[in-house]
Amino acid sequence: MSNPSVPVGTLPDLGVVPDSMFAQVVRTERMGDPRNAFVVEEMPVPEPGPRDVLIAVMAAGINFNNVWAAKGVPIDVIKVRQKGGDSRDFHVGGSDASGIVWAVGESVTKVSIGDEVVVHHGVWDENDPWILAGKDPMTAPSSKIWGYETNDGSFAQFCLAAEHQVMPKAPRLTWEEAAAATLVGTTAYRMLHGWSGNTVGEGDIVLVWGGSGGLGTQAIQLVTLAGAKAIAVVSSAERGRYCQDIGAIGYLDRKQFSHWGVPPHWADTDAQREWTAGARAFGKALWDVVGERRNPSIVFEHPGEDTIPTSIFVCDSGGMVVICAGTTGYTAVVDLRYHWMRQKRLQGSHGTNDEQAYAYNQLVVDGKIDPCLGQVAEFDDIGDVHHDMDLGQLSPGNTAVLIGAPEPGLGRTS
Ligand SMILES: NC(=O)c1ccc[n+]([C@@H]2O[C@H](COP(=O)([O-])OP(=O)(O)OC[C@H]3O[C@@H](n4cnc5c(N)ncnc54)[C@H](OP(=O)(O)O)[C@@H]3O)[C@@H](O)[C@H]2O)c1
Repeated sequence: MSNPSVPVGTLPDLGVVPDSMFAQVVRTERMGDPRNAFVVEEMPVPEPGPRDVLIAVMAAGINFNNVWAAKGVPIDVIKVRQKGGDSRDFHVGGSDASGIVWAVGESVTKVSIGDEVVVHHGVWDENDPWILAGKDPMTAPSSKIWGYETNDGSFAQFCLAAEHQVMPKAPRLTWEEAAAATLVGTTAYRMLHGWSGNTVGEGDIVLVWGGSGGLGTQAIQLVTLAGAKAIAVVSSAERGRYCQDIGAIGYLDRKQFSHWGVPPHWADTDAQREWTAGARAFGKALWDVVGERRNPSIVFEHPGEDTIPTSIFVCDSGGMVVICAGTTGYTAVVDLRYHWMRQKRLQGSHGTNDEQAYAYNQLVVDGKIDPCLGQVAEFDDIGDVHHDMDLGQLSPGNTAVLIGAPEPGLGRTS
């Protein structure tokens, strides 16, 4: 018997899976400006495999990764999947969801139909020899970012996740609050707690780039919770005050400095002197915020090309610059003189493993971390909000869109 699709903002009876659903779909020929790349299409509801969970998406979180997917930069995710044997010629992205379990595969034991859940974005083949050998799944060759490198993400009425990705939704949060921050929060958790020898601790100074953005809001709170001191870098006083409201001890306005980008070659003495003066002025402004001549033991990085030289310069001896992105570009120039003489660490970090995601989610459930919901949009606005995110024009904090939820403010159960 056939089950027709239901309108966005409504749900079928619990456990009744329609044959088709509405999704915001990217196709290769539309890649470019996210406003044109995302188009609503009706398509079949994906079928769960034995270890999968089908979730009715109540709200979806907006992340930068689907700006990249929409633009086809640095990779066309559809073509990459096709090379890997997936014949589908579309991308349904979305790496953050809050929703209700609607169907489960035959081997699923951890969740049941009707459970209210969120999803983390780390996914891998559980039979990957790397993982069977007991190593971190997020560094396994099979690891992927759900809803970016994989299809069937949260920009649809139903999404498909592996059982291990599914976590309890914080009962105190609305659907849109719960959908807003899991990807950035779990990523920040791994960056700050995942790299032994340089994990965040009591009294540390941590410099957080993009403090009022998705990653930044979660990093500031995680740093503060660890008893350390977060200093935000932002592009306006308004964004700086926002960071202070969520725990930063102060902020630096990056617009007051101009030494950004790839520095001049070390052999160009005059240009180097000028660049170093800019980096020193930034370091001095940082000390002014700290209130003493102390450098950050962790620099929380993601802008990349524009900022890495400064991050390495100001990082304390034995400290770590931990980076999960290159939003401004990938040519990260490290002046090795500062790097080896001061024995600093430049650590790549990506996604989350289950242990880190569950630890972060527990902090959210316990009310110790706020998702910092900034903007709420509609399903039809998914292209527009990705366009605005690309231009840095979203409100401080995290953005979510309503899908199954008919209006904001619903979903709180305690
Ligand atoms: N590898 C992973 O697992 C992972 C996970 C999450 C995110 N990411 C990546 O991390 C990046 C940031 O994500 P997000 O969610 O935090 O994005 P976001 O919400 O847009 O925040 C990024 C922040 O970066 C700051 N920024 C923009 N241009 C800058 C520049 N030239 N120099 C310094 N700061 C600049 C902006 O703050 P101001 O303008 O106020 O300075 C902005 O608030 C994206 O590229 C995303 O794809 C990677």
